[in-house]
Amino acid sequence: MTKILDELRDDHRNLARLLDLLGRELKTFKEGGRPDYDLVENILEYCLHYPDLCHHPKEDLIFEKLQARDPPTANIIGNLKLEHKELSTLTWRFSSAVRNVLDDEMLPRDWFLDVANDYLSFSRNHMQMEEVLFFPAARKTLTPEDWAELDDTWEMVEDPLFGEEIQKKYEGLYQEITALEE
Ligand SMILES: [Fe+2]
Ligand SMILES: [Fe+2]
Repeated sequence: MTKILDELRDDHRNLARLLDLLGRELKTFKEGGRPDYDLVENILEYCLHYPDLCHHPKEDLIFEKLQARDPPTANIIGNLKLEHKELSTLTWRFSSAVRNVLDDEMLPRDWFLDVANDYLSFSRNHMQMEEVLFFPAARKTLTPEDWAELDDTWEMVEDPLFGEEIQKKYEGLYQEITALEE
């Protein structure tokens, strides 16, 4: 009945792994070292595309149904679509900041750290809010027909990094993630 929610939670677990790796590289930067920029850029490449392509649209559709069935609860959750937009903006901002640092090492370190931390904390808070408020509310309120309709509407997009078939451009990143987590 809630296969779609299970998939969304899998996405969160995977994204959390990536955010932890980014956090680790930022710590290196903060301590004056040189982060693995290739790793950071590869992770951001994924974060710039997959969530907007597959994760956020699913959540937006579920949220629309929740809004229709239980407006007060939807109001407590807030403006999910707007948070997704903000998340995209912060991801682009962080990704551009990484490019800038690579092009010009003289950029203020504090500024870079702020941009990076804005992205990390917003992403983590957003996912936590969804796990604690949004998903349980949707599970409670949406009907079996709603879930069936959502399953039908949603055309399956394979996760290019954590899905069954890893896309060629992400093979290196996948191996690196697994090795770093050992
Ligand atoms: Fe979301
Ligand atoms: Fe989410």
